[in-house]
Amino acid sequence: MAESEDFLDAVRTALREGSFVSLVLSKPRGGSDVPNRLDVRFIQLKQEAVLQWTHQRGKQAIHENVDLNESATRIVELVPAVYRDALLVTSSENIQLRTGKRKAWLTRTASSKPVEPQSHDRQKQYLLSPESSAPFLVELGLTSADGQIKAKKQKKFRQINRYLDFVNDIYDSLPAEGCLNIVDFGCGLSYLTFALYHFLTEIHGRQVSVHGIDRNVDVITRAQSIADGLGLNGLSFSTGEIADVRSLLGDEPVHLVVSLHACDTATDDTLCWAVQQRASVILAVPCCQHELASQLEANRLQLLTEYGIVREKFASLATDTLRAAALEANGYSTQIVEFIDLEHTAKNLLIRAVRRTTGLPESVDSRADEYRQRYEEFKQQLGNPTLRTDSILALGE
Ligand SMILES: C[S@@+](CC[C@H](N)C(=O)[O-])C[C@H]1O[C@@H](n2cnc3c(N)ncnc32)[C@H](O)[C@@H]1O
Repeated sequence: MAESEDFLDAVRTALREGSFVSLVLSKPRGGSDVPNRLDVRFIQLKQEAVLQWTHQRGKQAIHENVDLNESATRIVELVPAVYRDALLVTSSENIQLRTGKRKAWLTRTASSKPVEPQSHDRQKQYLLSPESSAPFLVELGLTSADGQIKAKKQKKFRQINRYLDFVNDIYDSLPAEGCLNIVDFGCGLSYLTFALYHFLTEIHGRQVSVHGIDRNVDVITRAQSIADGLGLNGLSFSTGEIADVRSLLGDEPVHLVVSLHACDTATDDTLCWAVQQRASVILAVPCCQHELASQLEANRLQLLTEYGIVREKFASLATDTLRAAALEANGYSTQIVEFIDLEHTAKNLLIRAVRRTTGLPESVDSRADEYRQRYEEFKQQLGNPTLRTDSILALGE
């Protein structure tokens, strides 16, 4: 049928020109043992662009990443032979194909929010979409059962995706094979912990062991019960104080340590643990840094400490700077980047640290020596306070 050919041409063009957004195949023909619905959407992973296929069978959803060429071949095989209805969304229009026994209908409507098919628009594509049908989104109350983000959870949803962008950025610094061992300190309600698990297992197809820790018994009980209910075997939770956590994974190497919005010096406790475990990557978003503010004596920058709110902000920035320097002194290449968690409102910083692999013995890491010295000098300028961050630095001595 000419309409089907026109539709498949539109799919090929969208894939070729980079304007493909998503495709939904539904209404399988009678007698075919196939998923009742297929959701296909574009995802820009670090290494390549892929289409993520979600196979929906009843309540069960299975995800699969397929490269663009193979996806195109599959779509040609499925439309219209296996699925009667297909909806293609591109950056400029929606194209719907409906096929009957002898007749087909093709409708094209302009997209209500057209976007330029350029690479920077691609970055706005969420790594985790509501249509991914990830069951944890429903269980955590982020989306309704029909895959709509709840009005009050829009900001949380954006924050989760921002976080996954950062995980995607450091993905190449994690081992390429084998199980990834991950600890999330101060996991709280665990939206981000579940999202991380989903991202690594479903989008990257990895085997993982993700463990969340929090001092709050209620959130841990709830998170564990959701993980058990969804059969997420690689995801576990336990109650505990970050500073008291000792050996958690036995002799297993730790690949990624995460701590997001853990209060005050809990971030330092996390960093200490991660450095001791020689974690490959650390992602930490500090929160409410109070320790330095009360001790601050920036004699040479006295005016900066005079006004309450400025003093607090300066103390927070200085604390995070010392944390980054302490990580550098322990062999981590460290950056501080903006983690905008709620658009137009609170902004905070993410400390991203990747263990250096210089091939040289650690004793000749001149960068570490340089940062150790700079840490001490900066602390002198702040009035030589006593800080929990000092214990991170001490690990490298
Ligand atoms: C603001 S919530 C953040 C939750 C989650 N990481 C997120 O970003 O959505 C901070 C969590 O850290 C936990 N927490 C703070 N200090 C802790 C400590 N020293 N040991 C264990 N948990 C801690 C709190 O109980 C709380 O659940």
